[in-house]
Amino acid sequence: MGDKASTRRRVPYARQCIDQSDIDAVVETLQSDFVTQGPRIESFEEGLKAVSGAAHAVVVSSGTAALHVAYAALGIGTGDIGIVPAITFAATANALKYCGADPVFCDVDPDSGLARPADFANAIERLGSDGKSTKVLAPVSYSGRLCDLKAISKIARNAGAFVVEDAAHSLGASRDGTVSGSCRYSDAAILSFHPVKHICAGEGGAVLTNDETVARRARSLRSHGIVKEPTLTRSEGGWAYAQEALGWNYRMTDLQASLGESQLKRLDAFVESRRDRARRYDEAFRADLFGHCFERPYFDPQSSWHLYVVRFRDSDLRRRAYEWLQNEGIGVQVHYRPVYRHPYYERLGEGPLPGAESFYERCLSLPLYPSLADSDQIRVIAVLEEFCQTV
Ligand SMILES: Cc1ncc(COP(=O)(O)O)c(C=O)c1O
Repeated sequence: MGDKASTRRRVPYARQCIDQSDIDAVVETLQSDFVTQGPRIESFEEGLKAVSGAAHAVVVSSGTAALHVAYAALGIGTGDIGIVPAITFAATANALKYCGADPVFCDVDPDSGLARPADFANAIERLGSDGKSTKVLAPVSYSGRLCDLKAISKIARNAGAFVVEDAAHSLGASRDGTVSGSCRYSDAAILSFHPVKHICAGEGGAVLTNDETVARRARSLRSHGIVKEPTLTRSEGGWAYAQEALGWNYRMTDLQASLGESQLKRLDAFVESRRDRARRYDEAFRADLFGHCFERPYFDPQSSWHLYVVRFRDSDLRRRAYEWLQNEGIGVQVHYRPVYRHPYYERLGEGPLPGAESFYERCLSLPLYPSLADSDQIRVIAVLEEFCQTV
């Protein structure tokens, strides 16, 4: 097979979907009085509250910053332990390290990549046998599907731990009436507005919570730990502000917020197009000619389908499929290498965990985004069919 990728238009595995209304919104902000910390921040936050149902939304500069701020606002600090699914983007664990805390990794379902309540319970038990306890559980709504947050929150309550839903993949998803990010069963949730996600703000993220104190702390921490207290301004003067904690500059700009807010108006349409494309894959891959090669994911109609992840029979087949598709100009990706395998975390001596290993060895994410053209998706399916015929 020659290097066809160079002669054909590449189909990426993910991409943003920007239209004229988004461009107009950003240009309008550029021409306004504020390019940062202006009115777009609050109106984007209002929009996020409306779609998630959470009482408070605090937008920040990235999903990673949102994780850092959420953990810190809950008081996670030096020496604490948080339980993170092994299959996630490293940021879920990294943000604990930023707080001086340590992640402990729990296993996941080898078929869905989602951490199950028993996975958290096992990790808590493992810690308990070493005389340790956990301060926070961080279920990840991997690929756009929610974990069993109700059961996980019960386990957390019994362990005296908080729950932070990493909802970077799942804006617009729900499970049995619980909306991702609503914080019905979590103390906080976080979103990411990286271009591969459901809505794009260039970069950006948000902390969602129903707890006013957590929201207030998050608001202060995103901007150096500064608050403007009426008592202080009354006694000292209108200029006075107080830095009450050590925070960071994690502020989102109005440029980002105007893009995010404009995109949010099309969230339902984005999620619907992702579902339609996931359905097309699902229908195509029912055919016998794929079954000997890979398994398709469970078609969850409540998922917001950030990723469409198939599972190959074994790691060798997955590697060959990856190379075949890349060579044909089709962007595919592996989400994720278990976090404990990264050299930075290897020294913790965690893993291997059987579900995470099995998932990692077989998974491959196929192109999925709202603007994925029918003809491109048909080509992805045809190229996979060609590959499966070689097996
Ligand atoms: C599960 C998960 N959590 C957190 C993040 C971090 O988000 P960001 O890239 O906006 O910092 C990502 C980003 O890919 C992610 O996939």
